[in-house]
Order: sequence, then C-alpha cells, then structure tokens
Amino acid sequence: MPEVQSFAMPMTESADLVVDGGRTTRSGAAHEVVVPGDKSVSHRALLAALLPGAPATLTVRGANAGGAVRALLPAMRALGLGVRAEGDALVVRQPVTPQPQHVRPHPDIDAWPEDVPYLHTEGSSAAARLLIGVLAGTGTHAVVDGDEVLRHRPMDWLVDPLTELGADITYLGEPGRLPVRTAGPVDRPGTVDLRVGSAQARSAVVLAAVAAGLPVTVRHPVRSRDHTERMLAAFGKLLTGTEREVVCGDGGYTVPEAIDIPADPSLAAYPVAAHLLWSDGGVLRIPRVCLNPTRLGFFDVLRAAGADITYEDRRTTAGGEPVGTVVARGGLDGVTSVRVDSPALLHALIDEVPLLAVVAATLPGDSWIGCAEELRFKETDRLATTARMTEAFGATVDVADDGLLVRGGSALGAGLVPGFEDHRIAMAAATLAMALPGRTTVAGGACHRTSFPDFADVQRAVGARICEDSNR
Ligand code: S3P
Repeated sequence: MPEVQSFAMPMTESADLVVDGGRTTRSGAAHEVVVPGDKSVSHRALLAALLPGAPATLTVRGANAGGAVRALLPAMRALGLGVRAEGDALVVRQPVTPQPQHVRPHPDIDAWPEDVPYLHTEGSSAAARLLIGVLAGTGTHAVVDGDEVLRHRPMDWLVDPLTELGADITYLGEPGRLPVRTAGPVDRPGTVDLRVGSAQARSAVVLAAVAAGLPVTVRHPVRSRDHTERMLAAFGKLLTGTEREVVCGDGGYTVPEAIDIPADPSLAAYPVAAHLLWSDGGVLRIPRVCLNPTRLGFFDVLRAAGADITYEDRRTTAGGEPVGTVVARGGLDGVTSVRVDSPALLHALIDEVPLLAVVAATLPGDSWIGCAEELRFKETDRLATTARMTEAFGATVDVADDGLLVRGGSALGAGLVPGFEDHRIAMAAATLAMALPGRTTVAGGACHRTSFPDFADVQRAVGARICEDSNR
C-alpha cells in the first residue's frame, strides 16, 4: 500500500450546517422519507454509455444528483456524448459526429499532450477510476485529471493491474497519481491480483476487460461492493467467480436503453441513525433502498448489537440489485457497543465509518471498528478526521493503524465541530448533533452536496432542526 498522505484541502469552503438538538415530531410518530439514488450504481450506469455497443440513447432514471456523480458529466461530454437532465433522469446520447474538447496544456507538467480529450473529474475518485478502466478497455486516448484532493489519492491500485493486462497508461504528474494519459487498450488475457479491497479498483479492471472483450480473471482480497458485476451480468455478460475472484469470459452483452437506480443505503443510514439516536419510539420507513448485501454493513452491525432494523417489500430490479423498504423501530436502548472485525464487513460499511463512530460514542461500552486501513485514502484520512470530529463532541477515540476504538460512556455536548470538507464526516457530525441538547455548528457542513444534496431536507422530514449558515 502506498504511503499515507495528508490530503490538501479544497480551495473553496462550504457553508456551515447549524443543528439544534431534539426532535420536532411527537414521540412514537411514523415517518417515511425517500433518499436519493445510489451514487455507486449511478456512476456505473452512466459509464455503461461508454461501453462498445451502447444504445443510441441511454436513460438513467433516479440517478444521484450530488457533486460526485455530476463530476462525471463534463468528462462524458468531452468524449463527445450528449448528456442532459430530463426530470429525475439523465439522458445520454451517443455522438453523431464526435466533437471532443482537447486538452489545455498544463503549466506545471512537461510532456502534457495537446491532442486528446481532457477529462476533469473534480473530486470524484469513482468517476476517475471507473473512467480510466473504461478508457483502458476501449483504447481511447485521453487525459484523466481531478482536483487537488483527488490528485493525492492512489491511482496505481488500478493502473498497475491494467498495465499488466497491456494497457498503455502514463502518469503525467506524480507517479501513482492523477493526471494520467490513457493511450492503448488492455490486450493481454490473464489473471491479475489486486492488492486492495477497493471496489473502484476492481471495477476499473472488470470494466476494461469487458469493454475490450478480453478474458481476464481478477483476484481480490475481499468481496467489496459488487454493483459493476451485477450490472454487467444483468446486461447478459457471462461473469463467474468466487468470494476471491471475478472471471470475465469472452461472451457478449447488451446495454439496455434505460437503467433504474435504487435509493442509496449509505444515505438511508443518516435518517436511520437519527431516528435510533432520538430513541423516542415510532417507526421510520425508507422505500426502494438498494439491499445489496455488500452495502448493508451499517445496518448489519446495529442489528447484531440489538437495534430493530428490518427490510420489507423485497424484490430485485432489472439491473440485478435487490431493493426494499428499510424499517427502523424504536431506539438504541439495550445496545451497548458495536464491533467491526472482518474486511468484508468493513467494506460493506466503508462510507458509514464516521456515522458508526458517532453512534458508538453514544453507547455505554467500548466499540471497535477495524480492518479499516483503506480509510486513510478517502477524501481525507478518514480514521484521523472521524476521530477528531467525534472528539470535538467530547468522545474519546483511539486511532490505530487499521481502525478506531471508540470509548463508551463519555459525556457528549453540542458545539463547534469540524467537517473537514468531507461529506461523510459532516453528515455524521450533523446527525449526532440532532440528538444532543443545544446548538452545534458543523464547519463547512454544506459539503454534504457531494453525495446527498437534500440531506438537510430529509433530516428535517424525520424531525431534525437543521439549516445552512454561511455567516459564521
Ligand atoms: C465506491 C467504492 C468505495 C466507496 C466509494 C464508492 C464505488 O471506494 O468508498 O464511496 O463506487 O465503487 P473504494 O473503492 O476506494 O473502497
């Protein structure tokens, strides 16, 4: 694994989130809220438009409208695709005559190519990594870049295996980091071993193999989220495998004209956590949530600890994803601590670690969230930022190389807490604040727009008092 970096903070600062603790609705009430489309499934569905043989028009219904998914759209346009919003759908049209936008030479980087499309993916690692995979599959020449934070995040996790399979990918700046130039397809069938559990790394290699029609076996240390494999299987692609590998055969596939995106379980986790933290009885329902088992770790851990979370109305979408209604009843009485001690469980809640940490801080016993070393490579070093945010409420958190020990029983209080311009940290902080007496200001908390643009509206609908304030 590469050395841990301290990531540069973005140039712009988001507005704060201001939360007054307590619930506005009567105790024992029933609530139902809808959360946005799944970010990971949205990225994959949009990228299906870049696969060979994609239909003239691909409609992605219910896509997540946050900054991370929107970061992919200018890159798709720069490749000549038409992308426009129609209601809650994104409609992607293949180019009649491709009109790629070419790169602007970069002042700091020698050998900056001037004759290929320049694909800027802002701060979205999924957009950049999955795009590199597709481009390495189709042999498209392009430069993929990102903002200063993304330029510090590892790309060698996927570039190394893609290069092993024959792709021509060059780092234009720091080795192992963006920007990269893609200039030739994967063309050597074989087996590659991934050294991290990252689903983005595995998806990049699988997308490259499938786009190139190349027989490839991808071995991975842990079965993290498998949306790419489910989507491609739903397209008719023959993918086999075990807990430790994905085998991409050489058969064909058909990209459909429309893909429906289920609601995001990582976003459903915030209103569920708020409801449980208030512990005032009542029931919360969130319909149409993606119930893919590789995403349900947050609910699994709380259920194992005694929380009443169930699933109703289960079915499977045409895209191969299980969906249903998440139902949370009552609160956290009787829950003493939580524990995450397997890589598969950690990956099933990888984005919910900050939220699980703040929930753990309210419990009487000590909680352990382990196998989490990859969290150091998120938008921030999320082991460090989760600890600092949770400690700002008065909690005691020990940071280990691979996890967090959250000590139980600390007295927690409202106040000014850091959001680190990291959407998951900010939303976790705001959610804990909803259950604490007094006013909390989450500095830069409006960065929730990266994945959950209507976070405050949804939390208000379940009884929170939360607003944005840019006047601190
Ligand atoms: C994602 C995978 C995870 C997750 C991220 C989305 C994906 O990242 O944290 O929010 O869409 O595949 P890693 O692949 O870095 O683990």
